[in-house]
Amino acid sequence: MDAALPPNALAARRVLLIVSGGIAAYKAPDVVRRLRDAGAEVQVVMTPAAGAFITPLTLQAVSGREVRAELFDPAAEAAMGHIELARWADVILIAPATADFLARLRLGMANDLASAVCLASEAPILAAPAMNQQMWKHPATQDNLAALAARGVRFAGPGAGSQACGEVGPGRMLEATEICAATAALFERDLLSGVRVLLTAGPTREPIDPVRYISNHSSGKMGYAIATALREAGAIVTLVSGPTILPPPAGVTLVNVETARDMHEAVMARLPTDIFVATAAVADYRIDNAASNKIKRSDSALELKLVPNPDILKCVAASAAPPFTVGFAAETNDVERHARDKLERKAIDMVAANLVGGAGLGFNADDNELMVIWRDGSRLLPRAAKTRLARTLVDVIAERYAARAAR
Ligand code: CTP
Repeated sequence: MDAALPPNALAARRVLLIVSGGIAAYKAPDVVRRLRDAGAEVQVVMTPAAGAFITPLTLQAVSGREVRAELFDPAAEAAMGHIELARWADVILIAPATADFLARLRLGMANDLASAVCLASEAPILAAPAMNQQMWKHPATQDNLAALAARGVRFAGPGAGSQACGEVGPGRMLEATEICAATAALFERDLLSGVRVLLTAGPTREPIDPVRYISNHSSGKMGYAIATALREAGAIVTLVSGPTILPPPAGVTLVNVETARDMHEAVMARLPTDIFVATAAVADYRIDNAASNKIKRSDSALELKLVPNPDILKCVAASAAPPFTVGFAAETNDVERHARDKLERKAIDMVAANLVGGAGLGFNADDNELMVIWRDGSRLLPRAAKTRLARTLVDVIAERYAARAAR
């Protein structure tokens, strides 16, 4: 197989490419080039031994990013430390993966930057092994491969044939095109193929007068990440969003709104749908009779009368043909009890609850942690970057949506 991938097959995917020290490292620049042609961002990390086969400068030129090799490089760590690198990656691709690197990966060692990043990352790992055929066949290597596979590490290759060492047998690294195709295949899912999903995201703005409004700290990040993850799972996604500074997610129909009433109207006009996910932080109240001219300062007290906004999620759940409904809950305490209460009160199918007020979690943060609750079960989705957490949440939504449909 040597066809190139479609130009957007890896759009916005962040591939951390580990190049370990084997002769097949000469193919690494081609891997980088093809990953980038398919839309990926590529950060190369070399093991110390890889430097014997290929220069960092070559890989820097093709990746467009500084190549990382040292675990204890204060300047590089200050820019993006090894933990940040580990979290940055959507996938860790090891090409070539030498026998030594696989052995260290199996043991969970962290004695260089590449192995430390693998240990610190939740990203899926795809390894393209490359080694002498005797080394490949050795029980120690086979044992390492089995243990890594059991732990979820995926492998592309190796191929068989004549080797750089003059021997013939298994152990040749696959060609760059095959490795890129295997990388793209990791992201392919058809969990929600053709399913219509409507989402709300971001804050709403409730005008006080033409220049002032009441709003909240919601950034929309979680909702946008879920919209993207739903799209990747094959869903047909419409995102009704309050004001955010986020770029529109690719492949998603975006409807921009400002107030809770606008959001309510936009959502109700798009029913029926198969799944509704309410991630928006909708203002519970709006100002009754917002001023049509700017309110002038005066020395007397100013009273604003607040009236309740429609509960969009509740309205959707009570609509004629209700979709599978997912609500969000931000709680400061007793997460599960409050979430169960919300499930009942709003008559919805699922609540994704997060504990707000924790360090670096929740509103405006890049990370989150969710407790997902449905009528007869729950699941904790541990702390992760919102983009990654969104994909896990979509897995749970797809699972419960299918379970409801099967009833
Ligand atoms: N929601 C909505 N329309 C509203 C208010 C909330 O669709 N007018 C949705 C949110 O998008 C979220 C869920 O309802 O999915 C949050 O429920 P809500 O009861 O507003 O949460 P809290 O404000 O945290 O609830 P409580 O006042 O019980 O703490």
